[in-house]
Amino acid sequence: MRIVFTYNPIHNDEFDFHCGDIAMYVCLCHAITDTQIKQAVSQGDTSLKDVRKRLGVGDQCGKCTKMAAIIIEQQLELEPNYYEVA
Ligand code: FES
Repeated sequence: MRIVFTYNPIHNDEFDFHCGDIAMYVCLCHAITDTQIKQAVSQGDTSLKDVRKRLGVGDQCGKCTKMAAIIIEQQLELEPNYYEVA
């Protein structure tokens, strides 16, 4: 059994999501999940613009951009794309 959560842009005042291993569709126009966005960050994307270029997230209705930006920000905090030297 696979459970999929969908993002409802009407009730988007606050987000705090922890769905663990369960995929959540973020961009319904392109069927892009939070997992795909996190993978894009892991592959070097650091902004919504980067992820949009790679996956197309947000380039149609745009209702997913706020949630996608939050996921990108959270993922960057977990795995920054830079390394401290000295
Ligand atoms: S839901 Fe992402 S562009 Fe429409």
